[in-house]
Amino acid sequence: MTHRTTDPATETDTGMDTATAILEGLLTEEGSADPFPLFERARTLGPVLPAGDGVLLVTGYEEAERLTRDRAFGIRRTEAGEATGPGGTEHLAQRIISASLLETDPPRHTRLRSLVSSFFAARRIPALEPLIAAAVDDLLDEMAGQAGQAGTPDSGTLGPGAPDPSILGPGTLDFMEVFASRLPMSVICELMGVPKEDRHRFRALSSALTVTLEIAQPPEAVLAADAAAAELVDYFSDLTARRRADPQDDLVSALATAAEGTGGAEGTDARLSEDEMLSMFVLLLVSGFETTASLLGNALALSFQHPLAAAGLRDGTTPLLGFLDEVLRLEAPVQYAARMPLTEGLDVGGVPAPLGTVALVFLGAANRDPRQYDRPAEFDPLRTGPQPLAFGGGAHFCLGAPLARLEASIALPALLKRFPRLRPAGEPARRYGLMLRGYEKLPVALG
Ligand code: HEM
Repeated sequence: MTHRTTDPATETDTGMDTATAILEGLLTEEGSADPFPLFERARTLGPVLPAGDGVLLVTGYEEAERLTRDRAFGIRRTEAGEATGPGGTEHLAQRIISASLLETDPPRHTRLRSLVSSFFAARRIPALEPLIAAAVDDLLDEMAGQAGQAGTPDSGTLGPGAPDPSILGPGTLDFMEVFASRLPMSVICELMGVPKEDRHRFRALSSALTVTLEIAQPPEAVLAADAAAAELVDYFSDLTARRRADPQDDLVSALATAAEGTGGAEGTDARLSEDEMLSMFVLLLVSGFETTASLLGNALALSFQHPLAAAGLRDGTTPLLGFLDEVLRLEAPVQYAARMPLTEGLDVGGVPAPLGTVALVFLGAANRDPRQYDRPAEFDPLRTGPQPLAFGGGAHFCLGAPLARLEASIALPALLKRFPRLRPAGEPARRYGLMLRGYEKLPVALG
């Protein structure tokens, strides 16, 4: 990234200087905590803004939506539009994500997606309702139990010397730890067929891996991501071997069978290679977990800020889907997607996009575009207007969108009804990062 010139004599405050400063601001801790003023500054200069070094900042809804759907743009920088395979970088975590469907273009993307899409098809998701409702009930019971424990002299320990990360202090629980991260983890693990006793390892591993999705990647975080990727690959290699020996009705067994054969995809009998299969498992675990945990945390935080709307969720007078759409619009758990032109001669909203351009599609900015939404910064569960762009669009439209919506629509009312006096109990801490927007800690008291 280029830096602004600081010599006032030579500095011309061109749009590009400002755009570069905006991008740099977004990558700071303050910018990641509250990117919205910077998005607005960018938008006043145009819905698509060149920021130097071939980067475009896309903040307009229409431009963002069109770009995510445009097949002339893809995810990889390669001119042919085909993934280079998992060999291109020394970092395991990056190799795993690069080999996954999230970062590949057709035709490889089409093949990979077709192997898993049936598991997440909208028609199959309602069947998961009883499973999700049971998981929600169990977690609410545990919350009640832990809240009781949080009020005792032993609060904050699981026994001698073992701190319980769910308990922040007398009467105070961390909602992210005790509920928001555990529900999606248990649902995605259930779908994949990960045994219950193995799941406790995954929150930390999955969180460590998410740095791979961010623009700013501190070196120590990259090392931690590589270590987490190695552990997950080992785990899933082992689980695959177990499922091949004794197949079950789960996603790991299904993909293990699809990958069985000569060990390669193209030109072999197998429909996906072992590397692609392991990448898929890691991607599903990470994407099915962090994002939905953030949706639940962001929804609860917004319900604290809008107690009338929250009361309406308890007695059914606030439309649940309208409430969740407002959470997804104002506090999108995924704030941007990246797209690159696959051929010469393209533009984004009239701004030239030569090969090598990286367009940062700021979904969180598009969701507050005043050309689409009246009073865009206001939370209004009754609003009409286009669907928020929280799940992306086009070929990469979020595979788990119906599942995430179902989890949140079961969990949120159940939580608010079970604990009518649920309230914030201290300063929340946001997770750092520009792409994933959510809380690291969200302290709550139940009564
Ligand atoms: C609120 C929760 C969620 C949000 C906000 C979210 C957001 C997104 C977004 C924006 C994309 C598109 C990225 C791009 O275009 O580059 C995406 C893709 C994806 N999501 Fe989600 N997601 C959520 C939950 C889930 C869940 C529960 C799963 C399930 C397993 C999941 C699996 C995926 C996968 C596999 C992709 C890649 C699809 C592809 O490239 O074809 N997501 N998600």
